[in-house]
Amino acid sequence: MPFIRIVFAASILGSIASCAHKEQTPEDDATQPGAVAPTVDFATQIKPILKEKCVTCHNREVLKEPRPSFESRHLAFRNMPSGPVIDPGNPTGSRLIQVIVSPEILDDAMPPVGHRVDAKELALLKTWITEGAEWPTGRAGRIVPDYIPTE
Ligand code: HEC
Repeated sequence: MPFIRIVFAASILGSIASCAHKEQTPEDDATQPGAVAPTVDFATQIKPILKEKCVTCHNREVLKEPRPSFESRHLAFRNMPSGPVIDPGNPTGSRLIQVIVSPEILDDAMPPVGHRVDAKELALLKTWITEGAEWPTGRAGRIVPDYIPTE
């Protein structure tokens, strides 16, 4: 009776699949009242943006002080005469966001054409700052420029 066997097998597979489906309720954790776990991850979501679009210029070799460097937390969290580069909890008060959304405040938009931050990346940067701008100290927080001109 191969046909019956197939139907039987299919119904077992179906019930396994529906069990598995019922267990997948990822929104359960996220909707806990009072849950404050950050949704943006520095290592996988913020570091790549800063590395690819900002650190090429914003390192101590290329842009001298008082220009900000994004090579480490220590170097990035500083106050410019114009305001804090990163003000945790306050994206609109952070120069890092202001120079992207209001390029007219500098002669050259940040970053200059060719390295533009797209809408998704901007949203990530804003949410990251809103959530407290977590940036580890030490090795995990270091961003090494891919290329530093020697002259
Ligand atoms: C091609 C080089 C280059 C890239 C790439 C670049 N910047 Fe800049 N940035 C500059 C220069 C040059 C200045 C100084 C401009 C001035 O002083 O008028 C500056 C200044 C700044 C400042 C200080 C503004 C102030 O006066 O408060 C911030 C913040 C900044 N950049 C953020 C960024 C961010 C964020 C990125 C990446 C998304 C980025 N920059 C990418 C060249 C760059």
